[in-house]
Amino acid sequence: MQTLISEEQLKTKIAELKETLKKNKYDSAICVLNGAYLFFAELTKDLDVEIDFIKASSYRNTHSTGELNIIMADFDKFKDKNVLLVDDVCDTGLTLHILKNKLLQYGCKNVDICVLLDKKAAHEELYEPNYYAFEIGNEFVIGFGLDYNGKYRTLPYIAVM
Ligand code: IMP
Ligand code: MG
Repeated sequence: MQTLISEEQLKTKIAELKETLKKNKYDSAICVLNGAYLFFAELTKDLDVEIDFIKASSYRNTHSTGELNIIMADFDKFKDKNVLLVDDVCDTGLTLHILKNKLLQYGCKNVDICVLLDKKAAHEELYEPNYYAFEIGNEFVIGFGLDYNGKYRTLPYIAVM
Protein backbone atom coordinates (compact mmCIF):
# COMPACT_ATOMS: atom_id res chain seq x y z
CA MET A 1 0.00 0.00 0.00
CA GLN A 2 1.43 3.37 -1.05
CA THR A 3 0.25 6.84 0.02
CA LEU A 4 -1.00 8.86 -2.93
CA ILE A 5 -2.53 11.89 -1.14
CA SER A 6 -1.53 12.73 2.43
CA GLU A 7 -3.80 13.86 5.25
CA GLU A 8 -2.29 17.36 5.05
CA GLN A 9 -2.82 17.61 1.28
CA LEU A 10 -6.45 16.53 1.69
CA LYS A 11 -7.07 19.14 4.36
CA THR A 12 -5.54 22.00 2.37
CA LYS A 13 -7.24 21.16 -0.92
CA ILE A 14 -10.68 20.61 0.61
CA ALA A 15 -10.45 23.98 2.39
CA GLU A 16 -9.65 25.64 -0.96
CA LEU A 17 -12.54 23.87 -2.65
CA LYS A 18 -14.86 25.02 0.11
CA GLU A 19 -13.91 28.65 -0.57
CA THR A 20 -14.77 28.16 -4.25
CA LEU A 21 -18.14 26.61 -3.34
CA LYS A 22 -19.02 29.58 -1.13
CA LYS A 23 -19.30 31.71 -4.29
CA ASN A 24 -22.36 29.68 -5.30
CA LYS A 25 -25.50 29.50 -3.24
CA TYR A 26 -26.68 25.90 -3.04
CA ASP A 27 -29.94 25.00 -1.28
CA SER A 28 -28.81 21.45 -0.58
CA ALA A 29 -25.64 19.41 -0.60
CA ILE A 30 -26.26 15.69 -1.11
CA CYS A 31 -23.72 13.11 0.04
CA VAL A 32 -23.51 9.90 -1.98
CA LEU A 33 -22.97 7.17 0.59
CA ASN A 34 -20.91 5.37 1.58
CA GLY A 35 -17.72 6.56 -0.10
CA ALA A 36 -18.22 10.31 0.22
CA TYR A 37 -18.90 10.41 3.97
CA LEU A 38 -15.56 11.82 5.17
CA PHE A 39 -15.07 14.20 2.23
CA PHE A 40 -18.65 15.46 2.62
CA ALA A 41 -18.29 16.08 6.35
CA GLU A 42 -15.09 18.07 5.82
CA LEU A 43 -16.47 19.96 2.82
CA THR A 44 -19.77 21.03 4.37
CA LYS A 45 -18.44 21.91 7.81
CA ASP A 46 -19.13 25.66 8.19
CA LEU A 47 -20.82 25.86 4.76
CA ASP A 48 -24.23 27.56 4.70
CA VAL A 49 -26.24 24.71 3.16
CA GLU A 50 -28.81 22.04 4.01
CA ILE A 51 -27.44 18.52 3.88
CA ASP A 52 -28.88 15.25 2.74
CA PHE A 53 -27.87 11.71 1.85
CA ILE A 54 -28.37 9.24 -0.99
CA LYS A 55 -27.12 5.68 -0.76
CA ALA A 56 -26.05 4.10 -4.02
CA SER A 57 -23.74 1.28 -4.91
CA SER A 58 -22.31 -0.03 -8.15
CA TYR A 59 -18.97 -1.56 -7.22
CA ARG A 60 -17.93 -5.15 -6.58
CA ASN A 61 -14.21 -5.70 -5.91
CA THR A 62 -12.23 -3.31 -8.09
CA HIS A 63 -14.58 -3.37 -11.09
CA SER A 64 -17.83 -1.59 -11.79
CA THR A 65 -20.85 -3.82 -12.29
CA GLY A 66 -22.23 -1.19 -14.68
CA GLU A 67 -25.48 -1.27 -12.78
CA LEU A 68 -26.52 1.25 -10.14
CA ASN A 69 -28.34 0.15 -7.04
CA ILE A 70 -30.10 3.13 -5.42
CA ILE A 71 -30.74 1.97 -1.89
CA MET A 72 -31.92 5.11 -0.15
CA ALA A 73 -33.15 8.35 -1.71
CA ASP A 74 -36.02 10.79 -1.45
CA PHE A 75 -35.73 12.58 -4.79
CA ASP A 76 -39.03 14.48 -4.35
CA LYS A 77 -37.73 16.83 -1.72
CA PHE A 78 -35.20 18.43 -4.09
CA LYS A 79 -37.87 19.85 -6.43
CA ASP A 80 -36.98 23.42 -7.48
CA LYS A 81 -33.72 23.26 -5.50
CA ASN A 82 -30.20 24.21 -6.52
CA VAL A 83 -28.29 21.09 -5.53
CA LEU A 84 -24.65 20.11 -5.06
CA LEU A 85 -24.18 16.35 -5.50
CA VAL A 86 -21.05 15.15 -3.67
CA ASP A 87 -19.25 11.85 -4.24
CA ASP A 88 -15.85 10.34 -3.51
CA VAL A 89 -14.72 9.67 -7.06
CA CYS A 90 -15.81 10.13 -10.65
CA ASP A 91 -14.62 6.96 -12.39
CA THR A 92 -16.76 6.05 -15.44
CA GLY A 93 -19.07 8.86 -14.32
CA LEU A 94 -22.12 6.61 -14.60
CA THR A 95 -23.21 6.77 -10.95
CA LEU A 96 -23.29 10.55 -10.87
CA HIS A 97 -24.81 10.80 -14.33
CA ILE A 98 -27.71 8.54 -13.31
CA LEU A 99 -28.25 10.32 -9.97
CA LYS A 100 -28.12 13.75 -11.59
CA ASN A 101 -30.68 12.74 -14.25
CA LYS A 102 -32.98 11.31 -11.57
CA LEU A 103 -32.83 14.57 -9.61
CA LEU A 104 -33.58 16.59 -12.76
CA GLN A 105 -36.47 14.25 -13.63
CA TYR A 106 -37.94 14.96 -10.21
CA GLY A 107 -37.86 18.71 -10.90
CA CYS A 108 -34.56 19.76 -9.40
CA LYS A 109 -33.68 23.25 -10.69
CA ASN A 110 -29.95 22.64 -11.04
CA VAL A 111 -27.48 19.89 -10.13
CA ASP A 112 -23.75 20.55 -9.88
CA ILE A 113 -21.38 17.66 -9.24
CA CYS A 114 -18.45 17.78 -6.83
CA VAL A 115 -16.00 14.92 -6.25
CA LEU A 116 -12.89 14.39 -4.20
CA LEU A 117 -11.12 12.46 -6.96
CA ASP A 118 -11.47 12.83 -10.71
CA LYS A 119 -10.28 9.85 -12.79
CA LYS A 120 -10.35 12.01 -15.92
CA ALA A 121 -9.07 9.32 -18.29
CA ALA A 122 -11.87 6.92 -17.26
CA HIS A 123 -14.79 8.98 -18.52
CA GLU A 124 -15.93 11.21 -21.37
CA GLU A 125 -16.01 15.00 -21.23
CA LEU A 126 -19.81 14.81 -20.85
CA TYR A 127 -19.41 13.16 -17.43
CA GLU A 128 -16.81 15.62 -16.16
CA PRO A 129 -17.72 16.95 -12.67
CA ASN A 130 -18.18 20.68 -12.04
CA TYR A 131 -15.68 20.55 -9.17
CA TYR A 132 -12.97 18.17 -8.00
CA ALA A 133 -10.24 18.31 -5.39
CA PHE A 134 -7.65 16.05 -7.08
CA GLU A 135 -7.15 14.54 -10.50
CA ILE A 136 -5.77 10.99 -10.38
CA GLY A 137 -4.91 8.22 -12.86
CA ASN A 138 -6.79 5.00 -13.42
CA GLU A 139 -5.41 3.23 -10.33
CA PHE A 140 -7.73 1.76 -7.69
CA VAL A 141 -7.45 3.81 -4.50
CA ILE A 142 -8.58 3.38 -0.91
CA GLY A 143 -8.87 5.48 2.25
CA PHE A 144 -10.61 8.71 3.28
CA GLY A 145 -13.98 7.04 2.67
CA LEU A 146 -13.02 4.85 -0.27
CA ASP A 147 -13.11 1.12 0.27
CA TYR A 148 -11.99 -2.18 -1.10
CA ASN A 149 -14.87 -4.59 -0.34
CA GLY A 150 -15.85 -2.57 2.72
CA LYS A 151 -12.32 -2.22 4.12
CA TYR A 152 -9.95 0.77 4.59
CA ARG A 153 -12.62 3.52 4.59
CA THR A 154 -11.35 5.01 7.85
CA LEU A 155 -7.75 5.57 6.71
CA PRO A 156 -7.06 9.33 7.05
CA TYR A 157 -5.16 9.48 3.71
CA ILE A 158 -5.58 8.12 0.16
CA ALA A 159 -3.47 5.13 -0.85
CA VAL A 160 -3.05 2.94 -3.91
CA MET A 161 -3.89 -0.74 -3.41
P1 IMP B 1 -18.51 5.33 -11.54
O1 IMP B 1 -20.00 5.15 -11.62
O2 IMP B 1 -17.79 4.41 -12.49
O3 IMP B 1 -18.06 6.76 -11.71
O4 IMP B 1 -18.06 4.79 -10.15
C1 IMP B 1 -18.23 5.51 -9.06
C2 IMP B 1 -18.19 4.68 -7.80
O5 IMP B 1 -17.29 3.56 -7.89
C3 IMP B 1 -17.67 5.57 -6.72
O6 IMP B 1 -18.71 6.22 -6.07
C4 IMP B 1 -16.91 4.60 -5.84
O7 IMP B 1 -17.76 4.11 -4.85
C5 IMP B 1 -16.49 3.47 -6.75
N1 IMP B 1 -15.06 3.61 -7.14
C6 IMP B 1 -14.55 4.00 -8.32
N2 IMP B 1 -13.22 4.01 -8.31
C7 IMP B 1 -12.85 3.63 -7.08
C8 IMP B 1 -11.57 3.45 -6.42
O8 IMP B 1 -10.48 3.66 -6.98
N3 IMP B 1 -11.62 3.04 -5.13
C9 IMP B 1 -12.77 2.79 -4.46
N4 IMP B 1 -13.99 2.95 -5.02
C10 IMP B 1 -14.02 3.36 -6.32
MG1 MG C 1 -19.46 5.66 -4.20
